[in-house]
Amino acid sequence: MTQIDLSRSFKAPDWLAVSQRATEIGDSHHLERQYIEIADEVKAAVEAVLPSGKYTLGPRVAEFERAFAEYCDSKFCIGMASGTAALHLALEALGVGPGDEVITVSNTYVATAFAISYTGATPVFADVDPQTYNMTADLVAPKITSRTRALIPVHLYGHPVDMDPLMELAKARGLWVLEDASHSHGATYKGRKTGSLGHIAAFSFYPGKNLGAYGDGGAITTSDPELNEKVRMLRYIGQRVKWVHEVIGFQERLDDAEIHRPAREVGSRSDRLSGTAR
Ligand SMILES: Cc1ncc(COP(=O)(O)O)c(C=O)c1O
Repeated sequence: MTQIDLSRSFKAPDWLAVSQRATEIGDSHHLERQYIEIADEVKAAVEAVLPSGKYTLGPRVAEFERAFAEYCDSKFCIGMASGTAALHLALEALGVGPGDEVITVSNTYVATAFAISYTGATPVFADVDPQTYNMTADLVAPKITSRTRALIPVHLYGHPVDMDPLMELAKARGLWVLEDASHSHGATYKGRKTGSLGHIAAFSFYPGKNLGAYGDGGAITTSDPELNEKVRMLRYIGQRVKWVHEVIGFQERLDDAEIHRPAREVGSRSDRLSGTAR
């Protein structure tokens, strides 16, 4: 395994330099502070959804999908229940299954590897570059076998993977590339947005992410019409037309609105309901 020297100075490649600006993340209560700043906007948005009776895959999800696809330089966006579901159903849509291998990295959230396991395939871990901590084509190449079907590069902490050599390798070896873009909403690689660099991409909207929902949420982006159609079918119980279940699908829809309370309020309310202290 690569030994990472934490005292070394970081020399970023040119294409990564754009990500070097410092960002103030804040303390552990940043979600509450953020909510307080935008509370009126959030309340108005939630109040617009609640009387509509359309809470899952409603018009606001469709509106968001159009806007997020455009933002990610992609033709399609499919709203999902979580980033984990997005990774899983992207792999299902790619036809990954038992007997296959999918190469990813181990310095990611465990869901990246679990999504591979959910399909019955085997996760294979490639080492990472000691400068960027990201997957590289050179480190992936020796891990490819006759069973390899796909690669999952993770744009760790918003730093895009060096995608051009990876896509070249994938093309030469006939592999799918699924970007795990859960950390990289809005990040660019050579002027192109992450989420548009592979064949398909998965985003998480977990509250602490760059684009956080009020609850769990996620999305898939792709510019491949066939993958778009497959993912939409898989996301909503195998249907293209309501009540016609063409495949064994999943229930992984994105909601139109979720009510979020600052953590302290949620804690005190559930303490009262359950009668236990936390
Ligand atoms: C790199 C990465 N992949 C996948 C996920 C899974 O996303 P979610 O929590 O929305 O299921 C996360 C979330 O923490 C993540 O950081």
